[in-house]
Amino acid sequence: MQQQLAEIEARALAAVHEAKSAEQLAELKVAYLGKKGEITSVSRMMGQLSPEERPVLGAAVNQAKSNVEQAVARRMAELKAEEQNARLASEVIDVTLPGRRISKGGRHILSLVQEQMEDIFIGMGYTVEEGPQVEYDYYNFEALNLPPEHPARDMQDSFYFSERMLLRTQTSPVQVRTMEKMGGKLPVKIISPGVVYRRDDDATHSPMFHQMEGLLIDERVTFADLNGTLLAFARQMFGAEREVRMRPSYFPFTEPSAEVDISCFNCGGKGCRLCKGSGWIEVLGSGQVHPKVLEMSGYDPEKCSGFAFGMGIERIAMLKYGITDLRLMYDNDVRFLSSF
Ligand code: FA5
Ligand code: MG
Repeated sequence: MQQQLAEIEARALAAVHEAKSAEQLAELKVAYLGKKGEITSVSRMMGQLSPEERPVLGAAVNQAKSNVEQAVARRMAELKAEEQNARLASEVIDVTLPGRRISKGGRHILSLVQEQMEDIFIGMGYTVEEGPQVEYDYYNFEALNLPPEHPARDMQDSFYFSERMLLRTQTSPVQVRTMEKMGGKLPVKIISPGVVYRRDDDATHSPMFHQMEGLLIDERVTFADLNGTLLAFARQMFGAEREVRMRPSYFPFTEPSAEVDISCFNCGGKGCRLCKGSGWIEVLGSGQVHPKVLEMSGYDPEKCSGFAFGMGIERIAMLKYGITDLRLMYDNDVRFLSSF
């Protein structure tokens, strides 16, 4: 029986050595080591042996099994290595190909435009102030000479929280907050960018949009200073070729008041749907600060005067980059956002 076992083992080892694939090895494993395998069945003949001989044969069977198992494992490793070498020999990898770049995020167009606007005014000596988006009716309207039943409140349809509080409809309340903070000192020379809200919604009106307020108060500030400042801004922002016009308007907190339009980029001034046939797009409201507004915030209109303006940042971005629908700026389509 020992002899028979040795023969089987030798045959198994030879076959394993010759095996050409993993499947073949698996088959050999079953054929020799499986439940009905040749080596396993030798141990079934144990019954024919004397009690002294049995452990000797048992040990021999176990030894044979482990020899064959090791041989299978070794051959398996060899086959794997051969396969890998073959693949390395045939596969061509060009290590000089450029890697895949991880794309970096970019700034939003509105942040970029806001920063350009800030830079122009900082260059003219203005400092930047901020105000809250949830505002008191007092700052948003009353202290700007718009008492509760004033009809001009209808120009800015508003979101109210209560009778006293609302989402600010304009950045103008920062004028009042700044004057209070300065306590009558001169000059006051600030800009204030930020988010505002109105019940508007079309290609040039968003319910949430951005404005940038400007306020200059000093001794003898005139309307000519306002005009010069706005022209200087428009030229730096849009270049000298774009036309700018000032048109009389009305705001309760300025007197006189003017709105500023820039020639429409879409039709070049001929009139189209975007500019509603006028050839112009309104970008800001402005004027000389109303004496009552100065007084209410602790400034003496006999000793100082000033001008203020409020620009729509989305409108400036549209004109600067030729965007025909401001809603694109809020759709979060990467193809649009990454083009600036
Ligand atoms: C005002 O909001 C005044 N506070 C401006 C002002 C400030 C006047 C200081 C005088 C002194 P108006 O409602 O016109 O004005 O808005 C100012 C600008 O905001 C507009 O010219 C326009 O560019 C922009 N704007 C207004 N509504 C929207 C909207 N729904 N979506 C996008 N931009 C808007
Ligand atoms: Mg307006």
